[in-house]
Amino acid sequence: TSPDPVPGYTHDDPGLAPSPVSAADLKLLKASVLFGPADQQALRTAGEVLSGQIEQVLDVWYGFVGSHPHLLAYFSTPDGTPIDDYLARVRARFGHWIIDTCTRPYDERWLAYQHEIALRHTDVKKNLTDAADSVPLIPLRHIIAFVYPITATIRPFLAAGGHDDEQVDAMFQAWFKAVTLQVALWSQPYAGRAW
Ligand code: HEM
Repeated sequence: TSPDPVPGYTHDDPGLAPSPVSAADLKLLKASVLFGPADQQALRTAGEVLSGQIEQVLDVWYGFVGSHPHLLAYFSTPDGTPIDDYLARVRARFGHWIIDTCTRPYDERWLAYQHEIALRHTDVKKNLTDAADSVPLIPLRHIIAFVYPITATIRPFLAAGGHDDEQVDAMFQAWFKAVTLQVALWSQPYAGRAW
């Protein structure tokens, strides 16, 4: 439906496999991170504020990954050469994800794409979407640790829309909850029965 489709972005693909996570589990996880209707509302506003700044946000995150060899390794060949085409293709989907996190209803389809994103970080599906000659898996510990930079670095962008401190804080808290929630979902294929 987009005039400029993003390669490998399959959120709306009718063939997307359902998530093994039930709607009931999602509801409980939302309760665990204290995610409620006010957060959904704050994310809508965040989506408006961030929509004009996606490339700048991605510059910060890619700068962060690029300046940490232990992270850049997951966008590189096994012998350590960064793969520009892989970095660029994932970057476009990452941009889409920012807006999806703010604007999509967290329904069954969203849950299914969460599972797809999770698998793309694991040895089940990493590299497949982009036919990348990279290492086979991103360790779960790095995904969990990445919650902090993905959260801390968003704040100045949320503040750039001219909202008052209270509104910026509401957007920031909602973003933090939404990212934590997603990483909890993404841990499912890593953890298996322990999930
Ligand atoms: C893919 C977000 C942690 C490396 C993606 C995508 C998103 C994303 C949105 C694209 C999904 C799609 O295909 O539509 C996140 C978030 C993280 C996180 C929110 C943590 C809070 C990490 C870490 C690394 C990493 C720590 C290690 C450098 C990658 C790679 C891909 C990817 C290499 C491409 C996977 C593929 O081959 O399809 N990530 N990520 N991610 N991410 Fe992450």
